[in-house]
Amino acid sequence: MLSTNIQQQIDRELKKYPADQKQSAVMAALRFVQDERGWISNEAIDEVAAYLGMTSIAVYEVATFYHMYNLKPMGKYTLTVCTNLSCTLCGALDTVKYLEQKLGIGLNEVTPDGKIGLREGECMGVCIDAPVATINNKRLCGHLTPEKIDQILAELDK
Ligand code: FES
Repeated sequence: MLSTNIQQQIDRELKKYPADQKQSAVMAALRFVQDERGWISNEAIDEVAAYLGMTSIAVYEVATFYHMYNLKPMGKYTLTVCTNLSCTLCGALDTVKYLEQKLGIGLNEVTPDGKIGLREGECMGVCIDAPVATINNKRLCGHLTPEKIDQILAELDK
C-alpha cells in the first residue's frame, strides 16, 4: 500500500490537473515511490495504478519508457551515465568503462554493499556539459573526467 507520505504527494500533484485526468500525475507518482523506496516494484505499479484509476499495464508502459525509473533495486546511489550521441562523442563510453573498473560492476549492476548502482541513460538535455551523469536523478554531474569521478565517488563514501 502506498504510504501516507506518497499519497499526500500524489494528492498535491493531482490538484494540477482536471479531476477526470488523474493519469496525468503518473510520472510524478512513480517518482514519489522511487524517492521513498529506491525502486519501483510490480506491486508498486499496481498500487499507483489503483490510486490513479489506471490499468497496471498503462503505468508499466510509463515506468518502462523513461530511463529514470528503477525497476529493480539500484543501490543507495544510482549513477546514470548519459550514453546518447553528444555524450558518447565526448567520451561517455570511457566514463562508463572507468566507473565499471572503479566500482567492479557492470551496467545495471549494484556494488556488493548495495551502495552504488550503475546504469546508462538517455539525453538529459545538458549536452553542453558532456559527458554527464546523474546521481539518483537529482544531482547532475558534467564534464566528467576520471579525476572528477574519483571526487564524486569519494563524496558518496562519506
Ligand atoms: S547527449 Fe548526454 S546530455 Fe545530451
